[in-house]
Amino acid sequence: MNKLLIRGGAPLAGEIRISGAKNSALPILAATLLTEQPVILSSVPHLHDITTMLELLGCLGVGVVLDEKMRLEVDASKIDSLVAPYDLVKTMRASILVLGPLLTRFGEAHVSFPGGCAIGSRPVDLHLRGLEAMGATIDIDGGYIRARAPSGGLKGSHILLDMVTVGGTENLMMAAVLARGTTVIENAAREPEIVDLANFINTLGGDVEGAGTDTLTIRGVAGLRGGSYRVMSDRIETGTYLAAAAATRGRVLLKDTDPHTLESVLLKLEKAGAHLSSGKDWISLDMRGNRPRAVNLRTAPYPAFPTDMQAQLTAMNAVAEGTGRVTETIFENRLIQTHELNRMGANIALEGNTAIITGVERLKGAPVMASDLRASASLVIAGLVAEGETLVDRIYHIDRGYECIEEKLQQLGADIRRIV
Ligand code: EPZ
Repeated sequence: MNKLLIRGGAPLAGEIRISGAKNSALPILAATLLTEQPVILSSVPHLHDITTMLELLGCLGVGVVLDEKMRLEVDASKIDSLVAPYDLVKTMRASILVLGPLLTRFGEAHVSFPGGCAIGSRPVDLHLRGLEAMGATIDIDGGYIRARAPSGGLKGSHILLDMVTVGGTENLMMAAVLARGTTVIENAAREPEIVDLANFINTLGGDVEGAGTDTLTIRGVAGLRGGSYRVMSDRIETGTYLAAAAATRGRVLLKDTDPHTLESVLLKLEKAGAHLSSGKDWISLDMRGNRPRAVNLRTAPYPAFPTDMQAQLTAMNAVAEGTGRVTETIFENRLIQTHELNRMGANIALEGNTAIITGVERLKGAPVMASDLRASASLVIAGLVAEGETLVDRIYHIDRGYECIEEKLQQLGADIRRIV
């Protein structure tokens, strides 16, 4: 079982390049199922979750080739299965995103029912209700979602989502692309990854309007052409390295990223005392050697503070000056990293879905265990600011969402290495 061994104390300093966004590449890869023409994708990050999605596409009959420029050439012209099997779906919930594309193009799809995970029950009821509104019949049988479109295919519909769901918005957008007529999705998610997916679909000849707002209008088309597309930069990876630099009182330059996709995070880092500057595709952060000030935050759908950055700012607050209150409103169990942080000497009390974090000057290195992707990132940040050694176990969670994390942190001067 791989582990990360971190010797803390050094402020991060230097520059790194940010990878393509996991949470945009996953829906975009699912959307390649919508066309029989070849698609070329660049800036797809090399992550475990991406490998799992490619494995899933492969078992549906999709051909995938990595070219010499590390671009993915995807060919969904010979689909020979409509089943997303349990052994793949159980390792990655985002597999549910093949449901909409398979159903709208082939009229049928069988996807293993995704279970919950460490951060919450993660239901998919809104995905299924939306597909039913488009005329699908949905049965749950033997742990599988059995979905069938009416003869003639899915039909455009007016859908009002009970709550903001990123995956639900993506699945229903993709299902609407080849439906008969127009679909309106109200109370849609507004995340930048939704915009990236819509831009990809429109590149292939789809007709999606309103992405980035809370109302999407998708006019169904008969079919999509092929094309090539570059996946957006990863705003959460960006925020994670900025939070690590702030916690370690460092000075970093992040390239190949877009400051407009994480404004709520940048505002919090400025409140913590960071000196930020940015350009079209870069962000720099300088703490000028100062300890961060504690910040209060409350997670909510975009453009508010992202839940995927909560654990990282919790780790920064753990060594900040003052007391910060962090409230998690999206997932029911996403403050789990506080227990491991307290084992490292943090002073965090939980009151319902709020963590009250009283900053300490330094944490103490300890053996800790990762529980989910972003909680693991917070433990790495804690290890970077702790005295002594921190051994982070179960780092397969990290490999799901951070490309070459130890190499990038080593480039920023961290004493970190992977041990088996
Ligand atoms: C996406 O998950 C991201 N994953 C998550 O990132 C992210 O935390 C989340 O959006 C919120 O921003 C990917 O994009 C692959 P939701 P998703 O549907 O789509 C409830 C990471 O660390 N809900 O927006 O699963 C749900 O329980 C991952 O990179 C329903 O009740 O999130 C949650 O409380 C973790 N019924 C809330 O909505 C539904 O049918 C938001 O979930 C769907 C969702």
